[in-house]
Amino acid sequence: MWSRSKLGTQFIVLLLIVFLVGSAIAGGALSRVLQLRAEAQVAAEGYLLMNSIRAARYYTDLQVRPVLEAQLGSDDFLPEIVPAYAARRTFEEIQASDDRYQAHTYKEAVWNPTNPNDQADEFETSLIQAFEASESTSESVPELFGFRTLPDRGRVFYTARPMRLENPSCLQCHSTPEAAPSEMLAIYGRENGFGWELNKIFGVQVVYAPAEEVFSASRRAFGIVMGLFFAVFAIALLALNGLLQPFVVRPIRQLARLSQRLAADEIQSPQDLDAPESEVLTKVSDRKDELGQLGRMFQDMLNEMLARQQRLRQQIRALKIEIDEQRKAREVEEIVETDYFQDLQKKAQQLRDRKQTDPD
Ligand code: HEC
Repeated sequence: MWSRSKLGTQFIVLLLIVFLVGSAIAGGALSRVLQLRAEAQVAAEGYLLMNSIRAARYYTDLQVRPVLEAQLGSDDFLPEIVPAYAARRTFEEIQASDDRYQAHTYKEAVWNPTNPNDQADEFETSLIQAFEASESTSESVPELFGFRTLPDRGRVFYTARPMRLENPSCLQCHSTPEAAPSEMLAIYGRENGFGWELNKIFGVQVVYAPAEEVFSASRRAFGIVMGLFFAVFAIALLALNGLLQPFVVRPIRQLARLSQRLAADEIQSPQDLDAPESEVLTKVSDRKDELGQLGRMFQDMLNEMLARQQRLRQQIRALKIEIDEQRKAREVEEIVETDYFQDLQKKAQQLRDRKQTDPD
């Protein structure tokens, strides 16, 4: 079946197989690479978001709080002096102004939070522990990202960075209840959000993005690259088919037809070639490639064959003449040997003898 199909078809089927296997392998690798790239991109966005929020935290702590506290009594408390409040408000503002972050959530997940909403869950605790562990090694990890499943949102993509207590001013509200403003204690109680230590990692900043965002980014890129890949292949296939027909398949077919005519003894001299045939032969023989070599060999063979036929015909002609002469000689001989001829000869002899004995 395969060996009976045409050269062009064989080429195209072979190429298609190569393409399918190649695109399966390349597509697998590509989708993996694009997935990683999309993850890194969403993580970078999350990192940027956390940076902005962190900046708002620092601004509140270093600039806003001292000004406000100077006007407040030592027991007074305003949410505006809390960096965590600034962080939450900043995130809400970003979300309100940029549609991209509509489905994102931001959390400051802490071991022992002031606001129970900020309690680190099991997974976030493991992130805090991972950051702590990386502290003790030489290269500390600046961020972690990946997928997790949230009970209320399903699969999400998280980006996390550690939170460290760097500023002693934080201890006012996070060391002991005694140091904290009593108005704050009235709202949040004396149990939670205390006992934090300076220069220790006490929680993580986490941004949760919908997992679909990562997938759709990588799917989009995959679609574009594979589309281009298919387009280039289709062009290559068409071009190959377009070149194969006039440059390979057709000349071979014409040479084959010529051989057929030769075999059928339809060509006995160069004049018997019709115009397209001799044109094809010279065109193919002029080529420098393998087909050109074949064409030249074919031409040599043709010339040799025609010359041999010519010689053969001459020999046959010579043979015919010889045979004719022999036949003539035999015919003469046959005539000479007939009784009639013998008799005639005898009579002629007698006539000659009589002439000699009787010469008048
Ligand atoms: C004036 C008191 C006060 C100061 C100073 C303060 N915090 Fe807080 N912090 C709070 C309160 C109150 C909350 C709870 C806010 C809320 O309702 O979410 C909080 C929440 C947090 C949270 C969120 C987790 C949680 O406990 O709910 C983090 C993280 C945090 N603070 C870190 C810091 C850091 C770091 C500093 C120093 C730069 C600091 N805080 C300074 C009062 C303070």
